[in-house]
Amino acid sequence: MNLVNLVLGAVACLGLTAAASAQRQHVNGLIGEPPDVSNWPHPAAPDGNPFVRSTANPADIAQRDMVAQLGKTLFWDEQVSVDNTVSCGTCHESKFGGVDGRQGAVAANGNFGAFGVIPQAVSQFGTVDYGFLANPSPQIARSVTEVTPPTMIGAYVFERLFWDMRAGPDFDDGFGNQLPLFDDWAALEDLAVGPPLSDVEMGHEGLDWSSGFLQSKLNDSFPLAMVDPSTIPPDIQWITSMGAPYSKIFDIVFNGHSNPALNSGGGVTRERFAAALANYHRMLIPDQAPIDIGRMTRQQQRGFAIMDRAGCFRCHSATGNPQLAGPGGPLVDPFDNAFSDGQSHSINIAPVRRKTPTLRNLGLHTKWTSTGHGGDGSTRVFVASQSDLIRFYEAEPPPLGTGPLSPADRAALADFLFNALTDPRVAAEQFPFDRPQLYSEVHGFEANEYGFGTPAPGGFLTPEIIANSPPQILPNGGPSWFKVGVGDAPPNAAAFLMIGAAPIFSTPPVFVDLIVAILPANPTNAQGIGTYQQPVTLNPGMLGIPFYAQWMVLDGRYGTSYSDAAEFFPFHW
Ligand code: HEC
Ligand code: HEC
Repeated sequence: MNLVNLVLGAVACLGLTAAASAQRQHVNGLIGEPPDVSNWPHPAAPDGNPFVRSTANPADIAQRDMVAQLGKTLFWDEQVSVDNTVSCGTCHESKFGGVDGRQGAVAANGNFGAFGVIPQAVSQFGTVDYGFLANPSPQIARSVTEVTPPTMIGAYVFERLFWDMRAGPDFDDGFGNQLPLFDDWAALEDLAVGPPLSDVEMGHEGLDWSSGFLQSKLNDSFPLAMVDPSTIPPDIQWITSMGAPYSKIFDIVFNGHSNPALNSGGGVTRERFAAALANYHRMLIPDQAPIDIGRMTRQQQRGFAIMDRAGCFRCHSATGNPQLAGPGGPLVDPFDNAFSDGQSHSINIAPVRRKTPTLRNLGLHTKWTSTGHGGDGSTRVFVASQSDLIRFYEAEPPPLGTGPLSPADRAALADFLFNALTDPRVAAEQFPFDRPQLYSEVHGFEANEYGFGTPAPGGFLTPEIIANSPPQILPNGGPSWFKVGVGDAPPNAAAFLMIGAAPIFSTPPVFVDLIVAILPANPTNAQGIGTYQQPVTLNPGMLGIPFYAQWMVLDGRYGTSYSDAAEFFPFHW
């Protein structure tokens, strides 16, 4: 069934009539051109995007689907991050409606954000040293994004992305030159190349695509090497079971592609990475919610009517028309599917204008709005529950809120917002919203640490191990991805990494047994941070055999202090 029909079904279910008009103008311009309904409902892409349509020839469609499957693999692969700890999906989980479901991440600005990597630095010699951020930012905890992630599910409709709409509409080569066939409606492509570089999200201080760093890391990596193979979705198993690194997979997927920016060979490239992620996102169409299939309950219909009356759809629809029926009404146009006008407004939540988010799958979120709560900028009320969110909207007069509601109306509004817009496939992580289980979901962040630190006899600092990176052994003998750091140590002190073959628990301050090496690292810096990376020579013989590490820090003034310890499991593919 095509989406227009689905939507008309929803309209009919509300007892209203709608005249579908072939030529629909979007008053606000930003969402722009009418969608290509001849291809509706799949695939979805704004007109003007070169995304292969379902009316293309079968070979092109097959290639499009392969590109999307590669994108799905990359989206859930923690190896895309510099230290193997964060995938795109870590912050955008399907079961939470495509947003971050983890709690406890509070950004410096007071917002509730999402945990990313521990910031990494390029060494003073200009080479990547896999070390931790040096002077003057002695950060040893994971970064937190300054806003909550909006969802990637349904993001394909937007001409501009991010809360401040800075991504899109074009995708250039990174130096301001237009790329063939990527010169319009390419917000998703434009966005996709950002997170892997961001030292808050997945990247490395000073990292950019022109350094070739990420490309070479991925070229040597085996797709989804870190996840339990039994959790890999069927449609991408051909990628992970090929026994080939990403360099080969990328060449297979893009071989002969009609876009000259993609077909040239060369393994992992920035443009191919962007195309893969963008194609994947364009397959994530949440159109099976009760509102789409004409299954809204009476209570949900009443909730819709409350929002309609209050004027919510002035912003939460593409047309800006608060009426449900008639040409230009919300939901009559497939772009209204997103429940957003694609524009930014200042609505007293954040101190700045924000893009109107989609309301789809809101019932699955654990955080709401760009700030992660629903209070206004000054009071910062954390919206811990759905009823908090409803209370927030009741407190605002129309059209930003509903004003005070009767208990029945309150329940109706909640039912519409949190149930009528929820696609059950998203909630259950079913195709196309399925995914592998992440490594970090099995082995929690820093869950490999044990024991406790011991300050020097005359000192007060208790060193802490920073052991957040699963050690990756590359098959071709390339640089193995192991590093371990120490923080909260005395400044400018000699640091040694003790490596043992077994853990011990009974003999503090030492927690590693059968010590095989005591490796000198560089002295800690002025902030008391030290790192050790390469080479604790990793080789295939160490695969799956755990080893144990603990820091010993010698400080001339106060004596010797020790960190806690950690267990490492070298992994391969
Ligand atoms: C550390 C958490 C984190 C990771 C990892 C991450 N994101 Fe995001 N994502 C965010 C945040 C936060 C935003 C909003 C940023 C802003 O608006 O300034 C965002 C925004 C987005 C959006 C925009 C949605 C919209 O409607 O504007 C998309 C799409 C997206 N991310 C996809 C990705 C992809 C693809 C990757 C991997 C290459 C990725 N994200 C990795 C946190 C993350
Ligand atoms: C003037 C435009 C506008 C109007 C009118 C409007 N909204 Fe919004 N809405 C926004 C914007 C912009 C945001 C994002 C603000 C932010 O997160 O900083 C938002 C966010 C939301 C969210 C949170 C979504 C999420 O992902 O967490 C909900 C729920 C919501 N609006 C419901 C409503 C309801 C209900 C009404 C009517 C009573 C309404 N809105 C009226 C623009 C509007």
